[in-house]
Amino acid sequence: MPFRGQDARHLPHRALRSILCRGVEVKRNDGNRPDRYPSRAPCMWYNAGAIARPGFSSIRSECSMTTTLLDQLVASSTNRFQELYGRKPRWLVAAPGRVNIIGEHIDYNDGFVLPMAIERYCVIAAGETPGNDATLFSVATDEEINISVAAPSRHATPGHWSNYVAGVLAGCIARKLRPAGFQAVIESSVPVGGGLSSSAAIEVATATLVEAMTGASIEPVEKALLCQRAEHEYAGVPCGIMDQFASVMCRADHLMLLDCRSRHVEHIPFGDPGVTVVIINTHVKHELANGEYSRRRDQCQSAARKLGLNSLRDATLDQLESQRNKLDLVETRRARHVLGEISRTVAAAAAIKASDWPRVGELMDASHDSLRDDYEVSCRELDLLVDLAREIGPPGGVIGSRMTGGGFGGCTVSLVETEKLDEVAQRLAKCYRDETDIEPSVLTSRPARGARVVRAG
Ligand code: GLA
Repeated sequence: MPFRGQDARHLPHRALRSILCRGVEVKRNDGNRPDRYPSRAPCMWYNAGAIARPGFSSIRSECSMTTTLLDQLVASSTNRFQELYGRKPRWLVAAPGRVNIIGEHIDYNDGFVLPMAIERYCVIAAGETPGNDATLFSVATDEEINISVAAPSRHATPGHWSNYVAGVLAGCIARKLRPAGFQAVIESSVPVGGGLSSSAAIEVATATLVEAMTGASIEPVEKALLCQRAEHEYAGVPCGIMDQFASVMCRADHLMLLDCRSRHVEHIPFGDPGVTVVIINTHVKHELANGEYSRRRDQCQSAARKLGLNSLRDATLDQLESQRNKLDLVETRRARHVLGEISRTVAAAAAIKASDWPRVGELMDASHDSLRDDYEVSCRELDLLVDLAREIGPPGGVIGSRMTGGGFGGCTVSLVETEKLDEVAQRLAKCYRDETDIEPSVLTSRPARGARVVRAG
């Protein structure tokens, strides 16, 4: 157990080494011989259900090098570009999705969040073309769209993927960064609708592409804010700043402690091979999600206003107690979540620095309870996965578990002892499937680095 105070010789490095050295056989559906992936950083999928990559059987584990996952995506988008446009792409860029370890529904309350980028990326392969159009091909939807790079307009269908690109192009143009006409293939391994910021990954990849094409660089905070604005104005989603900051700025093997008020970033080392981040997709997305998200924002703003504050970041628990009569019951509960979650996030960052895993686990558990009871953004499926993880608990290798992202579906995030990873993942997936008849996906990821230019002209 990688717990504080224990002799390091008991850490499960041996188990890890065996994963790292042996490679893992991956069964293919097409009957070919199993592929053998060399593996350094464990990165596994079990029973990937609806988002399984074609060609793989259901229960499987796949280990590969961090870079291999990105390399595969880069290779396949390059091939697609070549097939479609008859030449090699000149630029290749990548931006990751993210998972939030703790600090949920806190970014728009000016508090602290603690996400990491995941080894799942949006890759864009692009090449210039005469004229003023961006011709964008989405591998996910098998669809080609034209947008004017001089005056990018919104797609008629709300929520259409091209709106993220158009919004970022518009933001770049407003900063006098106007690319020439181009053709692009967009391919992503960030699950859509799972709360892992697939949209931020497209936005940040687009901004990174414009940087590569124009040779300019956008200051990271400005880049994240530009992408957030695209999401507000072109996709109509009133998100906070966490997702875009994570996709732009995260570092490999670090969590990112972001002060959403000052925008100060502290990178917290998170490289203990004995602890693995496990993300389980419930594969449900309840319809309430968007409306309830803005309602939560409004309730928090209203609570802050009634307390005479700009944001709940400035409130204290004493103040909340003594001025309770100013807030209605719902606002009190929302504020209680925000205040508690801000201190939990700061405490979790400190506990992670100290490798105090039992404390990290307690804080994650308390975060989930607060999101479920006070903030009311969980759902039956998320609660089920968290309850199942708690049943396993520290004796079975689960350090802590909670819902992650906006809620009402999407994913849970758990910290699991690497040595017990297989057992934990298989048990959670099986019990969830038995209870819901839904096939969950399980993915693990090391903290990845933020957006990058893979090939620059
Ligand atoms: C969504 C938003 C983020 C953040 C989370 C909740 O992912 O995009 O800005 O508010 O919900 O923590």
